[in-house]
Amino acid sequence: MENQVYLASNERYAKMSSIYNRCGRSGVLLPKVSLGFWHNFGADAPYERSRAITRFAFDHGITHFDFANNYGVPAGSAETTFGRLMDDDFRPYRDELFISSKAGYLMWDGPYGEWGSRKYLMSSLDQSLKRMHLDYVDLFYSHRYDPNTPIEETLQALVDIVRMGKALYVGISNWPLEQLRLGAKYLKEHDVPLLIYQGRLNMLNREPIEEGILDFCREEGIGFIAYSPLAQGLLTDRYLDGIPADSRMAKEHFLTSDRRTPELLDYLHQLEAQAKASGRTIAQEALQWVLDQQGVTSVLVGASSVEQLKNNIAILG
Ligand SMILES: NC(=O)c1ccc[n+]([C@@H]2O[C@H](COP(=O)([O-])OP(=O)(O)OC[C@H]3O[C@@H](n4cnc5c(N)ncnc54)[C@H](OP(=O)(O)O)[C@@H]3O)[C@@H](O)[C@H]2O)c1
Repeated sequence: MENQVYLASNERYAKMSSIYNRCGRSGVLLPKVSLGFWHNFGADAPYERSRAITRFAFDHGITHFDFANNYGVPAGSAETTFGRLMDDDFRPYRDELFISSKAGYLMWDGPYGEWGSRKYLMSSLDQSLKRMHLDYVDLFYSHRYDPNTPIEETLQALVDIVRMGKALYVGISNWPLEQLRLGAKYLKEHDVPLLIYQGRLNMLNREPIEEGILDFCREEGIGFIAYSPLAQGLLTDRYLDGIPADSRMAKEHFLTSDRRTPELLDYLHQLEAQAKASGRTIAQEALQWVLDQQGVTSVLVGASSVEQLKNNIAILG
């Protein structure tokens, strides 16, 4: 693959109507399945595998790739990998891609390396653009709410980032409902309407529904993208027979082995039976459940192989 010029599949937009959803009441269409670069795309992952997964996604109409400043090991290296992918494969397709990044969690030492100040958000986005070899991102998120920074400071930084042409749209991730309401109002009043909310939603974690966030987004015409729709791999066949050595759980960091309880295995066996009855895999059943929730624009999956992604996008028909 190394020396071959990448030509994207001519078939990539053949199934437009089954692949895309409108993002809230905006002009943007997003693929119902989007690809996240949190794990498996950093300097610790084989470049050619990252490249194969990314090419496969784009060849199948998956136009939205999601990043944050701190993704990859070491932090930032997923964006660096993408910069290389832009140079090697994707530069001719820049206008067909919808690239997001975020800032909010710890990225560098000292008082300006995390949370929600204007100083941090602006500097972090500049760093992300350099790593990704991009002039602008399509979407920039506040990755978490900062209770110690005036909310207007964080929101005005988002407005100004759009005005400066460094992002086309802004998003909010992981903010509580009350602050989300204030944020959406502020952004609307400053003519930079909130495009999308990113929150964790899967069959095992329904907080955005229970807390009213999904309803709020739907009513306000804000898109909703569900992260970890497979509960980091728990809602697949990955852990049915043990903990594979190459899995996220084997690293015992973000997904720890205490999550693999007898109750979870019982639940998975029921889900497997239900999935089989509808001709699906557990992962497909879990993704379809999320997509079926009213107001969900896209499920944001991770993948450590082309096979996994292939399995996941099969729900698009
Ligand atoms: N805003 C936020 O705070 C936030 C937080 C977390 C994530 N995110 C975003 O959401 C994206 C997705 O998160 P996630 O990686 O936790 O999502 P996920 O889709 O719930 O989990 C992905 C993992 O599940 C396993 N997997 C995926 N498809 C599979 C299949 N068909 N069969 C078996 N196993 C399968 C793989 O695990 P193995 O790697 O073990 O093979 C893969 O790495 C991230 O990349 C990021 O963009 C955002």
